[in-house]
Amino acid sequence: MINSTALDHLPASKDLAALQQQMANTHLRDLFAEDPNRFDRYSLEAAGLFLDYSKHLINDDVMASLVTLAEQANLAQARDAMFAGDKINYTEKRAVLHTALRSFGDAPVMVDGEDIMPGIRETRARMQAMTEQVHSGQWLGHTGKPIKHIVNIGIGGSYLGLKTAINAMTPYHVKGFEHHFVANIDPNELSEVLGKIDPETTLFIVASKSFGTLETLQNAQAARAWMIAQGCAEQDIRKHFMAISTNLKAIDQFGIAQENTLPLWDWVGGRYSLWSSIGLLISMVVGYDNFERLLKGAEAMDQHFCTAPLAENMPVIAGLLGVWYQNFMGAESHAVISYDYFLRDLPGHLQQVDMESNGKRTREDGSTVAYHTGSVIWGGTGTNDQHAYHQLLHQGTRLIPVDFIAPATTHNPIGEQHPWLYTNALAQSQAMMQGKTLEEVRDELTASGMDADQVERLAAHKVIPGNRPNSMIVPEKITPETTGALIAMYEHKVFVQGTIWQINPFDQWGVELGKVLGDRLIEKIRAKEETTDQDSSTNGLIRRFKQFNR
Ligand code: F6P
Repeated sequence: MINSTALDHLPASKDLAALQQQMANTHLRDLFAEDPNRFDRYSLEAAGLFLDYSKHLINDDVMASLVTLAEQANLAQARDAMFAGDKINYTEKRAVLHTALRSFGDAPVMVDGEDIMPGIRETRARMQAMTEQVHSGQWLGHTGKPIKHIVNIGIGGSYLGLKTAINAMTPYHVKGFEHHFVANIDPNELSEVLGKIDPETTLFIVASKSFGTLETLQNAQAARAWMIAQGCAEQDIRKHFMAISTNLKAIDQFGIAQENTLPLWDWVGGRYSLWSSIGLLISMVVGYDNFERLLKGAEAMDQHFCTAPLAENMPVIAGLLGVWYQNFMGAESHAVISYDYFLRDLPGHLQQVDMESNGKRTREDGSTVAYHTGSVIWGGTGTNDQHAYHQLLHQGTRLIPVDFIAPATTHNPIGEQHPWLYTNALAQSQAMMQGKTLEEVRDELTASGMDADQVERLAAHKVIPGNRPNSMIVPEKITPETTGALIAMYEHKVFVQGTIWQINPFDQWGVELGKVLGDRLIEKIRAKEETTDQDSSTNGLIRRFKQFNR
């Protein structure tokens, strides 16, 4: 049974439950009226990001109790254990070291008695060399032409983070190349990409940590078959395929040349792998130097996370606010809305980072939690979304905390568009906080000349309760560094929450069952005989498929 205020393992949760009662009768408007310094009190800057969290349903007591909660959960020790390479992914007995991938310091990082940093540096150097070979035109396809199209075949963490970072860094794209993604097993997606590329000038990167993922393997096989059908000889296939995986044997069996292969390690989780060799496409699209700038932005956030006191630590504050709303205030989802077109893919990536990490219910000892864990992450881009779902944010019945991400400057200053864009983020944030009272609505309608009867009929509909918590995250500009810092901030936020909830954010057993059942059901779909041994729904749906696929 979920009792949402049952973080019983942490004594501070009692104080937070009491504070919830108090905050339930407080309006953000009043909190701002009482304290003119609220913005200064509840904002901070780290790694090029500025976070204003003053429009949250908090006061000093709430923040102090949340920090105590983090202390009681031994957050600092858990964080240090992660950075030190302890096997904190206990269900898979693995270290969690995506942070080492973006470390440029001299310190060794040990896994099983071995320093992993030399391997990381060597792989970065190979990524750089491969990128330069393609950019300089030295990498030639089977007819001797240089590469123009680069296609990433990968899904989940071998896709979403890359796409997010690449689109965020649009102004930094190297000219003369086109990149494409094939992720889904849906043949429409592959066919659309094949329709855009030229077999003589295309390089496919098969990115898969396991090299066992159905979608990726099927797409890679189909791309290979397409190349051959387009006139590429078997022995020339190596000129058009690169691969990245921990499973070098499987890459070899697929027929990709060893020199076109980059290694990956089991201490890199899929959804945390854009910083690794899986990020090769990023390097190909923005150039290796900008890829390194992305890593360094994330490294700056890592350093902040490791050194700032918990009460002044951006990912810790972001994580604790999430716990406050999820476990004490009754929120079920969290929206991330970016007021920058280049960040349009961030919510999709954060869905995997957050929901695949913290969508869990079991503690290390096998017991089930009695409180809510990972929230539903969703969102999109402003201002489009204002004309879609913001109505529900303002007047709906649910409490949905929002992160607005709004860079102060744009890469494309056109007229007054950027000031308007930023202003819109500001206005949404302010409207969610202050709302509009019945009195204000009545005054407004009366002043417009409406008669008293009409005012009374309409007024309630126009009331906006406000008191809707939201953060503003304001980087100066979306650069490789701020992109890295932003993604790393969210990764650590997820870690903070996983630690408090006592779950393992680094496995993903829940996605296995569907894969196993899929392997069984494809046999039923292929079979000539009617399926009768499944549940009636599955039997019926297989029948329906076969009706049109004889
Ligand atoms: O099915 C989930 C998952 O394992 C993700 O965690 C991962 O990012 C994705 O599949 C792709 O995995 P791979 O990189 O091994 O192909």
